Amino acid sequence: MTKELFKGSILFGPLPAVLVTTIDQDGRPNVFTVSWIGVACSRPPMITIAVRKERLSYENIQATGEFVINLTTREMLKMTDFCGCRSGRKVDKIKHFGLELEEGIDVAVPSLKKSPVALECRVRTVTELGTHDLILAEIVRNKVEKSLIDKDGRIRLGESGLLAYCHGEYYSLGRQPLGTFGHSVARRTARQENQRKKTKDGKKPGSL
Ligand SMILES: Cc1cc2nc3c(=O)[nH]c(=O)nc-3n(C[C@H](O)[C@H](O)[C@H](O)COP(=O)(O)O)c2cc1C
Repeated sequence: MTKELFKGSILFGPLPAVLVTTIDQDGRPNVFTVSWIGVACSRPPMITIAVRKERLSYENIQATGEFVINLTTREMLKMTDFCGCRSGRKVDKIKHFGLELEEGIDVAVPSLKKSPVALECRVRTVTELGTHDLILAEIVRNKVEKSLIDKDGRIRLGESGLLAYCHGEYYSLGRQPLGTFGHSVARRTARQENQRKKTKDGKKPGSL
């Protein structure tokens, strides 16, 4: 590949586009869209979101020390974009979309019923960086849509058509995975090994 040079910027993706729910001091809920989000630690499970101080959601998070990350799906595209374009200071976004809320379990903040996965978060630290403050939070509880859990208890998250955001455009994850974790280093079965050898010898897999 031949590269052109640009000054440093957040040319990075794909990113998730999640809906973050918060409440104010009087318990009034709000929701906003976040893509500046990243996993920070597995144990304890911690995540970061980068939020501008002027957001109503920032005020709410500062006031309560809690928020909920609601993963989004292709069916939630319109509300995900809208909640990222309109402030709760001007529009009641929850009423606007008639969003049903589910009570928090370990936090006082509700989650969105429509979302397949909700991560209840408690703030650990807030770091001022510039345009955005980096909020590091511990994930204290996960809520997962039952139909995404298979009979062996595995969570099939990839099957929910999750939304992604890449350089100003939204995408959704295909329902078929391209591979699974570790497939590049996994041991081949005897049959696969046999096929590989045959291919190497110039024969097509499956040919005699
Ligand atoms: C796809 C998308 C991603 C966004 N990501 C962020 C983000 O990571 N941090 C942030 O502060 N604002 C982000 N925004 C903007 C806020 O969601 C937007 O300003 C929102 O209206 C704030 O709502 P509030 O004032 O009700 O909190 C994003 C907007 C969109 C459309």
